[in-house]
Amino acid sequence: MITGAPITVAPLTPTIGAEVSGVDLARPLDDATFTTLRDALLRWKVLFFRDQPLTVEQHVEFGLRWGNVTQAHPIVGAATPESRIHRLDSRQQRESERRRLADTALVPERDAEAMWHTDLTFVVNPALASILRAVNVPDHGGDTMWTDLAAAYQALSAPIRELVDGLRAVHVWHDFPGTRASTGGEVVSAAIHPVVRVHPDTGERAIFVSPMHTSHIVGVTAIESIELLDLLYDQIRRPEFTVRFRWARDSIAMWDNRVTAHLGPIDAEFAELERVMERVTIQGDIPYGPDGRFSESLAGDHFH
Ligand SMILES: [Fe+2]
Repeated sequence: MITGAPITVAPLTPTIGAEVSGVDLARPLDDATFTTLRDALLRWKVLFFRDQPLTVEQHVEFGLRWGNVTQAHPIVGAATPESRIHRLDSRQQRESERRRLADTALVPERDAEAMWHTDLTFVVNPALASILRAVNVPDHGGDTMWTDLAAAYQALSAPIRELVDGLRAVHVWHDFPGTRASTGGEVVSAAIHPVVRVHPDTGERAIFVSPMHTSHIVGVTAIESIELLDLLYDQIRRPEFTVRFRWARDSIAMWDNRVTAHLGPIDAEFAELERVMERVTIQGDIPYGPDGRFSESLAGDHFH
């Protein structure tokens, strides 16, 4: 099917994020259109689309063009085409966090910088990509940010790149939301990944740790792990590697999860904003590092 108008890919920063117009994602994509989108995703890492009022079925169909669509989430959410949609509702999230924290004596850390993450890295095959659609968003606030993990890696000095190239780290899903993975909690799922991931399509190297799910680097002391991770977290959060998106109803963001991390809206946690999003997740492959060594599962299953 020919979609008609030529597709426009308009970059938003020098390395990450591009707004795509001239395509109707509710209709089956012809091969030329899909190739254009795929090339754009590999080049710009996050694609933004406006005014795409997709049904759940159309959202899943668009996801299937890229690979297998997984169940909504390996840990939270229930299994229905709805079971392949992960629904993010800010009011429900706040309520469940209140309940969980009420069971502990802990004061929530509420550290926005600790919320940066790459999706599902606590499983051995983290998502290849995620497709997030705005169903109901506030007229202000609720932005999402993404960071370019390949640009962040490239901006490290050569000796540091050489050091981190050979490291591996443990990633966990734990039960203390809004805190660093290293602060504890019961581990439900865990995997060990290279600290530097090689992108299977582009060959780019990217920093593959992030504060929400990475607990520690293996084979070094605890202090060394903390210091090295802080260095890498500071690097991936540098503003020059990021792009920020202002949502509107029926906006879609699609990101290559192999080379990006993102930060969900922090303001929505504080203001009583209503924000409902739907996410489709594309099944990922098993990461490998510069030495060709693959990730391994420590707890929990592959994610299908
Ligand atoms: Fe996420």
